[in-house]
Amino acid sequence: MAETVRIAPSILSADFARLGEEVRAIGDAGADWVHIDVMDGHFVPNLTIGPAVVAALRPVSALPFDVHLMIAPVDPLVPAFVDAGADIISFHPEAGPHPHRTVQLIRSLGAKAGIVLNPATPIAMVEELLGDIDLVLVMTVNPGFGGQRFIESQLDKIRRLRALLDRIDRPVDLEVDGGINRETAGDVVDAGADVLVAGTATFIGGADCYADNIRGLRPRPRR
Ligand code: DX5
Ligand code: ZN
Repeated sequence: MAETVRIAPSILSADFARLGEEVRAIGDAGADWVHIDVMDGHFVPNLTIGPAVVAALRPVSALPFDVHLMIAPVDPLVPAFVDAGADIISFHPEAGPHPHRTVQLIRSLGAKAGIVLNPATPIAMVEELLGDIDLVLVMTVNPGFGGQRFIESQLDKIRRLRALLDRIDRPVDLEVDGGINRETAGDVVDAGADVLVAGTATFIGGADCYADNIRGLRPRPRR
């Protein structure tokens, strides 16, 4: 099991009319990263946040901005997200013909690069990239919307990725996204995840609940 599990609230479930306050509130409540879902209405059937919103949020928080791009093509928009303040940029290998080039581009601009596996995407799709990336993000729902049900079959993929990543002599984060809540978080961490994305489970109940919600996702101390 990972020593330290980080929680990355997805602001897709935040109140968009008060986004700055929401980002500040999750920081105060103990979030480790801010997960920002970028959707283009084409690679996925939803349309969300662009670089201008990321730039507007940047002064509000010192936490790492973990930008999950669900857009195609990826490369033309990478510089705008780095300029806006993204610390980590993850993308889907299906979104363009040359994922390794996209990794090189992201890293050449000084950000960390992540690659995302959809539920139907095999590990083999990214295996050749594992030595060059900073993060793998396993989707436990199909991308596009918050509030979907966790897909159990992905636990085995997380376990197999953990074993592969443990053989690499540099740190590569293993992040999991979709349907994470108090019930599913434990299984995901036991399978080897070290970063948990949570939208619905963070923001449910409003700001007074955020600290409790985030704490509830962390692994309980073992006796
Ligand atoms: C889905 C996004 C997720 C989403 C998670 O495409 O990548 O980050 O916000 O939402 P929950 O935690 O509600 O499943
Ligand atoms: Zn996401």
